[in-house]
Amino acid sequence: MAQKTLLKGRVLSFTGSPFEGEPTEAVKISGAVLVEDDRISAVGDAESLRANNPEANVVDHGQNVIMAGFVDAHVHYPQTAMIASWGKRLIDWLNTYTFPEEMKFGDPAYAGEIANRYLDLTAAHGTTTMCSFCTIHPESVDAFFTAAQKRNQRVVAGKTCMDRNAPEGLRDTAQTGFDQSQKLLENWHGIDRLSYAITPRFSPTSTPEQLEAMGALWADYPHCLMQTHLSEQTDEIAWVRELFPEARDYLDTYEKFGLLGSNGLYGHVIHLEARERDRLREVDAALIHCPTSNTFIGSGLFDMAGLMRDGHRVGLATDTGGGSSFSMLRTMAAAYEIGQLRGAPLHAAQLLWLSTVGSARSLRMDDCIGNVAPGMEADLIVLDLASTPAIAQREACAENLWEAIFPTIMMGDDRAITEVWIAGQRVSN
Ligand code: GUN
Ligand code: ZN
Repeated sequence: MAQKTLLKGRVLSFTGSPFEGEPTEAVKISGAVLVEDDRISAVGDAESLRANNPEANVVDHGQNVIMAGFVDAHVHYPQTAMIASWGKRLIDWLNTYTFPEEMKFGDPAYAGEIANRYLDLTAAHGTTTMCSFCTIHPESVDAFFTAAQKRNQRVVAGKTCMDRNAPEGLRDTAQTGFDQSQKLLENWHGIDRLSYAITPRFSPTSTPEQLEAMGALWADYPHCLMQTHLSEQTDEIAWVRELFPEARDYLDTYEKFGLLGSNGLYGHVIHLEARERDRLREVDAALIHCPTSNTFIGSGLFDMAGLMRDGHRVGLATDTGGGSSFSMLRTMAAAYEIGQLRGAPLHAAQLLWLSTVGSARSLRMDDCIGNVAPGMEADLIVLDLASTPAIAQREACAENLWEAIFPTIMMGDDRAITEVWIAGQRVSN
């Protein structure tokens, strides 16, 4: 017999894209969602779902919002312990804070400790799926997948390959990068809810030989995702130009080695040239916006309005620990602020869509996660729209649902997440 739970509340699901037409029309609010084992089996009117499923356990969340768990499309779980490190821009930040911390992940015990710490923190913030860079150490990948598998969590991760411009102890080679990535992919990809992503860190830390090897690996496993960084800071772009004098632009350093494709995820993509935008659109690559990182490291302002208008596939991400938060609520707030600085404020429905459906689409997983609909995997969160006195007093004078939700997006944190469900199981929060 299936285990059935009926969650009652304001169930928020998307019936379309809030970037096409009136944003609120892409959203449907229902009275309840029925969870059967690890899946959502029905969404609809609470009374009739109750009548048709008298054996179901009922949990009444009152006015709280029930929605899909957040999907964080670009993170570095190994940067958990050095989040919020002061005062550096990208390249100095990597050398000063990031690389010394990543050096520790050859130790499986440490990698396991941080993987579990990271998954505890993100679950408390309502994130149920993430796509993570690991470190060059295979142990860091094993630790992350092992921790996620125990929690029955849908995650994507890969060994971060680097064979130059990184310290001794944090470099592989074109060959070992290929071999270790392939072995990890074979061991983990498609097991339970785990997926492997081929992960060259970014062009400055890979030789042409390594980029070529990564491209060859992707050609062997084209159904896998490939994740990297692109066009984050102007100094980085100038460095790429020096390192690859033949390349037409930054994207070309990936393109010419077979690292541009529809299953590719490109983090940051702030200072794109016209050719790069056109090519990314042509191949239907995923662009990942990391707003707290872009302000924290001082990178620049992502062109959400322009890229959405041109039909790009965009996901939202914390970029922990270049990003300054584990919270997708805080991340949506930063995306809103960057929109404002560019003269294009995002609607609350668009922000929620980006952090669920949008990110799931960028991972090519929108058929199973990121929305509340029959047949989807039951990764759900419950949002309290009055989680602190400051938010509650604003919510109290809201005139509609969207005005009630927006203060939680702008000012909310883990206190707003009252319940989290992963694969149909309630996770303690
Ligand atoms: N570019 C290459 N590596 C990184 C990283 O770890 N974080 C960020 N924000 N950008 C990068
Ligand atoms: Zn990153």
